[in-house]
Amino acid sequence: MKSVASAPAKIILFGEHFIVYGGKAILCAIDKRITVESEMTKTNNIEIESGLGKLVIPKSDSYKNADSVFRPLVYIAQKMLEKFHSKAGMRIRVSSEFPSGVGLGSSSACCVAAAGSISSLFENHTKEEILKIAIDAERTIFENTSGADCTACTYGGILEYSKDGQIKKLEIVPKLELVVANSGIIHSTSKVVSMVKHFKDGKPEIFSSLCILEVNLIEDALDALQKNDLVKLGKLMIQNQEFLEKIGVSNDILNSMISLVKDASYGAKLTGAGDGGCIIALADKSNLKKTLNALAKKYECFSAKIDTNGLEQSSA
Ligand code: PMV
Repeated sequence: MKSVASAPAKIILFGEHFIVYGGKAILCAIDKRITVESEMTKTNNIEIESGLGKLVIPKSDSYKNADSVFRPLVYIAQKMLEKFHSKAGMRIRVSSEFPSGVGLGSSSACCVAAAGSISSLFENHTKEEILKIAIDAERTIFENTSGADCTACTYGGILEYSKDGQIKKLEIVPKLELVVANSGIIHSTSKVVSMVKHFKDGKPEIFSSLCILEVNLIEDALDALQKNDLVKLGKLMIQNQEFLEKIGVSNDILNSMISLVKDASYGAKLTGAGDGGCIIALADKSNLKKTLNALAKKYECFSAKIDTNGLEQSSA
């Protein structure tokens, strides 16, 4: 039997970086997916095939010996084989509809889809149980993950999350289109987070006043999402981008991408850690084409809607 599960990508609508120092951020699952297909084999190996490469590792080897892109998958496979006292090996295939390493939550989506796919080979698990397995797996590569990305990938929709670990799924599903464009620059979240700490330590007053402004901005954004007020939301994205530029996490390429969609979209900003990665531009049916066209000549880009399903599972 093959077990198939998929989980969506995520973007950060508002609040990246400032969330590290308190306040809230707003995350959103989008309708681009990672799919994981798994099956038991008669070998003693765990075999993985994905767009990022291939791995064959004896199932008795420590997951720590696997390259970081495969480590969470090996961890999940071993955990499940051990828990259910299985003598089988495992074959895992990963395919993705969106790029990795650019702040779209590919590692979290992969952990959630893998946890869903592999755990179902043995017995049915609730989404809550699968989320726990996925977060444990992601901790093998990001020790301090808040779990917010995995939560967005598991439940879908829009999430409000705060530094103290509170994660709340919002009931609202605004009718919006997002254009996601990839700068092609792979970024390191931890490096950019350190850059921001440096900024904060050097200019504490400026940083704390920006944090206060961001808290207010997020309250306004939650209100605009509730009212499906895209004009207001777009303006808030532009403002959020200005704050991110002030703390030094944007760069010339991201700024020029954003200026390309200035007139076509309701507003745009970088998403995630910055210093590379992706930008998001807000649109609806009326200006989606124009917004995509403004970016498509120079950058990999795609349109996305909010995903409300989160983890999806099936067996074949
Ligand atoms: O680029 P991403 O998806 O890894 O987003 C990082 C978000 C930060 O706020 C910069 C860091 C964090 O842990 O919240």
